[in-house]
Amino acid sequence: MITRRSFLGSAAAMGGLAASGVWTAAADADEPTPKPASAEPGTHTLPPLPYAYDALAPAISEDILRLHHGKHHAAYVKGLNGAEVAIADARAKKDDAAIANIERALAFHGSGHINHTIYWENMKPGGAREPAGPLADQIKADFGSVDGLKTQLLAASATVEGNGWGALVWSPMLKRLYTLAILNHQNSYMVGAVTLLITDVWEHAYYLDYQNRRGDYLTAWWGLVNWDDVAGRFASAR
Ligand SMILES: [Fe+2]
Repeated sequence: MITRRSFLGSAAAMGGLAASGVWTAAADADEPTPKPASAEPGTHTLPPLPYAYDALAPAISEDILRLHHGKHHAAYVKGLNGAEVAIADARAKKDDAAIANIERALAFHGSGHINHTIYWENMKPGGAREPAGPLADQIKADFGSVDGLKTQLLAASATVEGNGWGALVWSPMLKRLYTLAILNHQNSYMVGAVTLLITDVWEHAYYLDYQNRRGDYLTAWWGLVNWDDVAGRFASAR
């Protein structure tokens, strides 16, 4: 039998859900039940960049950032909104065939929106200091050193076939950091993992500046990493 205590313990182990208050507040009869967090389907908006379009130059040019954020990321937000509206409509009409098809668009565009949002926040003009604190300790435990992580993450990112992403993730269940080579926006991801650091290796992310030199782009990107942001994500995910 699953008691509330054991359930909350499991929830915490699964990814900090209890720590977030999502489940604990809902489970306590004497606490106010929070309203569902979701808004109307199809109402997501493109988050502004956390810096100016020219702030990452010369590592990433203003032209790329304008196109990447204003066109490509915006297209995924639009695609996610469209999929949310379409699946709500199909559900209302009990159109099972349509639902199965829309699920693919939902995963693709939703993941595209999320990956890009984290990617922008993971960078900072001029970069930031090296990892510190618990994040640095975990990196040393799982990769030997920051250089070990850098070598592995950049190699994973450089060898993504076609469009995709390189990512550093934390698995709350497995209690380890992993690097992943993600295909498209959502394939070859690890179930239940939490993205801490991600780099976009779709050609739209670098081709204007680097042509086919993906490795040069990745080296420049590494110098932009905002380790404070990565550490904050790790603290939330543990
Ligand atoms: Fe992108």
